[in-house]
Amino acid sequence: MIGQLNHIAIAVPDLAAASKVYRDTLGASVSEPIDLPEHGVTTVFVNLPNSKIELLHPLGIASPIANFLKNNPSGGMHHVCYEVGDILAARDRMKASGARVLGDGEPKTGAHGKPVLFLHPKDFLGTLVELEQA
Ligand code: CO
Repeated sequence: MIGQLNHIAIAVPDLAAASKVYRDTLGASVSEPIDLPEHGVTTVFVNLPNSKIELLHPLGIASPIANFLKNNPSGGMHHVCYEVGDILAARDRMKASGARVLGDGEPKTGAHGKPVLFLHPKDFLGTLVELEQA
């Protein structure tokens, strides 16, 4: 069911320092920081030839990644995002298989303006999974 890897998200305590690592040390193409207030994050997009890395930093007091950074103060991999053709069909398949869909189960608009859902890490080998309708 899942298609391409859309992105890997890494939560970071210092967005400028993280951008420098990807731009200068790894030699990648790195965007300017973009505030996404509705998601509670500031994001830097790292464009790779076959995928993207998203560097996430908390924005606002109720950021969904604040606790993650508290537990992982030097940063860490936060989630992987796979593309699906039909987000509602994907959700129904996950539910039928017993996997937990986070939140109310209704797709939200993700960082790229497309419908997304998140799946419980305990059902996916300890990894938070985002599904994005391609
Ligand atoms: Co994501």
